[in-house]
Amino acid sequence: MIAEKKIETIAVLTSGGDAPGMNAAIRGVVRKALKNGMRVMGIDKGYQGLLSEDIRELTVPDVSETIQRGGTVLKTARCEEFKTEEGRKKGADILKKYDVDAIVVIGGDGSYKGALGLSHEGIGVVGIPGTIDLDIACTEYTIGFDTAVNTAMEAIDKVRDTSSSHERCSIIEVMGRHAGYIALWCGIASGAEEILLPERYDYNEQKIINHITALRKVGKQHFLIVNAEGIGHSTSMARRIEAATGMETRATILGYMQRGGSPTCRDRYYASIMGAYAADLLDKGVINRVVCFRDGKFTDVDIDEALAMKKDIPEYPIEVAKALAR
Ligand code: ADP
Ligand code: F6P
Repeated sequence: MIAEKKIETIAVLTSGGDAPGMNAAIRGVVRKALKNGMRVMGIDKGYQGLLSEDIRELTVPDVSETIQRGGTVLKTARCEEFKTEEGRKKGADILKKYDVDAIVVIGGDGSYKGALGLSHEGIGVVGIPGTIDLDIACTEYTIGFDTAVNTAMEAIDKVRDTSSSHERCSIIEVMGRHAGYIALWCGIASGAEEILLPERYDYNEQKIINHITALRKVGKQHFLIVNAEGIGHSTSMARRIEAATGMETRATILGYMQRGGSPTCRDRYYASIMGAYAADLLDKGVINRVVCFRDGKFTDVDIDEALAMKKDIPEYPIEVAKALAR
């Protein structure tokens, strides 16, 4: 959709769980928008900060020394009030009070739903995919995933060392409440014998126990299970597996370390381009879009369509993981 009037002032916020690379995206939006001649406002703490008017103007030096930093310098929050129509109307009125024509929202699907609500109140919106979970259907890439999987993989390698020395079974729980992409990538990259995905797990622990028993018979001395947060219960699972197999079993929950740290080159690169791309869309008056990476190109899709799309974990990597676990 094309905006009715020229977009002169834009705002940017980060929303939902933070992700490494969000700062590079903010910097991309701010510096490209300024270069395009627009005024840029930064909103602290996501939609919560919008409702409490936590708004300030951003200039070039405000985003200096941020590209290499994890987290988000604009801070982030989850905001229940924004799920109500009154909350979104209040947010739109505040943006209008500050002469903001359009807003860039860096976050996941939940954040786009909030943005869509703002678009119904006459504010132009552009979403940028920022989540470690890789669970946004319209894009093959989400900012933060690469850093998170590398952090998790390095941690798993360390657990694997001690697991191998002690001839133990290790269950490592990685993030992903609804999405198994982190577990799938880390599981394959660290040679896990079992990868438990929220999208696929059938809660049949006996299959895992049989797998461990069969592999031990052919000489496997340690066993690695990567479990996703959405399945959880890693500690009690460890106790049950130890009791059933006689193999010492330990659980390690990686937790929030996966959301932190300096972003990888890949995350900084994609975030910088997606941030600048959002500013360019708005400069051309194009609104109500989500920036994405598809078929090897940076592109954009309508926000309504983006929210209607579904994404499922691919089957072939799951088959490969099973075939290699021997
Ligand atoms: P993500 O953006 O990573 O999916 P959340 O689902 O936690 O993260 O959403 C972030 C914020 O977006 C929520 O706290 C809320 O303010 C807003 N939001 C989420 N869902 C909706 C919705 N259905 N309608 C309006 N706003 C929403
Ligand atoms: O969406 C990113 C994510 O880290 C998920 O993997 C995880 O389930 C969730 O956020 C945790 O959110 P919170 O910060 O509310 O604990």
